[in-house]
Amino acid sequence: MSALPEIPTVDLADLRSGEPGRLARAASAILEGFGLYGLVYVRNHGVGDMGPLYERFLAFTLRPDGEKERYNRGDLWFQRGWSPPNTERAVVAGGQPDFKECWFAAPTPMPREMQLQFPEVYADNVWPEDDDVFAALYMQRGAELHQAGLALLQGADLALSLPEGALPSLCHDGPHIFRLLRYLPLTAEQASGRRVLWGEEHTDFNLLTLLPGGRFHDPGGHVAAPPDATSGLYLRTRPDQDHPDGRMVKGAAPPGCLVAQVGQELEILTGGTFLATPHVITAPEEPGWSRLSAAHFVHVHGHRMLFPLPPFRSDATVRSYSPPVLAGTYGIKTLVDIGLAPESALQKLGYRHYERLARTREFVLGRTRVP
Ligand SMILES: [Fe+2]
Repeated sequence: MSALPEIPTVDLADLRSGEPGRLARAASAILEGFGLYGLVYVRNHGVGDMGPLYERFLAFTLRPDGEKERYNRGDLWFQRGWSPPNTERAVVAGGQPDFKECWFAAPTPMPREMQLQFPEVYADNVWPEDDDVFAALYMQRGAELHQAGLALLQGADLALSLPEGALPSLCHDGPHIFRLLRYLPLTAEQASGRRVLWGEEHTDFNLLTLLPGGRFHDPGGHVAAPPDATSGLYLRTRPDQDHPDGRMVKGAAPPGCLVAQVGQELEILTGGTFLATPHVITAPEEPGWSRLSAAHFVHVHGHRMLFPLPPFRSDATVRSYSPPVLAGTYGIKTLVDIGLAPESALQKLGYRHYERLARTREFVLGRTRVP
């Protein structure tokens, strides 16, 4: 694994300036970063200090399990509230669960119409009953990250010569989700030789992911620099002739910068012009360390079709990214794949299940209260 310092940095002030030279500079950084690495660094992003929010989240994770369990919303496919360790598993990692606990909330309003259609991914937020500051900080940082994401998507329109607003409009009223994560201390046996990873290799399934930067805690619980330079985020670059499996490079943002990552939805819409980057989170080889981090996931609206946009359609891309799927349906399938939604969620797709059809008829006839 080697550091590649040439991952480009996008300055959101360039995009805001409206000056042709600065706009062109930002667009070319996005084109290269999202095209080759599936990732850019972002400066002048407008996202405030994550420290106070991390403090509140850490305090929550240190509560007794019985108390945290009250916010375990498996019924919402863990899309809100607390998700316990070992809930999620990466698809490409053969099902190894991740060593992390999380909090999920939506930082943008959820449209009522979509709540009826997709009750889990558009659910109302849940919050710890006795910590209003946590909710307030969470919504503030989440909204800032979302704005940074929309600005980058505007820049991506420019980079791809799409009509102005094309990508941001696709994600208007999407099931955006802001997630806090605590990667758990590993035992000496788990940490030795990196037998256990904090996050197994995967690609994000949403449109764009914003990572505001995390922090390590030493075995005593104090905030500290990581004990070795190799722990943290790694990403796999686009394969080429010399590197048929791509190259694993460390994602290390310059101080004060965000990381922005391409997700599967953006790869599909651009017919692979932008790359959903496989990435992995490694733990320090020294046992007992933990890490707090955050990720904001910008999603395409549940009704939008995931299929290459017209400028990116060729026989090859259409064949690669078929069949077209609704983003909402794609989300359900993926949440089942990664272990957050139950297999039975797939039975919502279509009416081939006669038992469900019979139940629906009973509901329509007013004989039952639940379809
Ligand atoms: Fe990820």
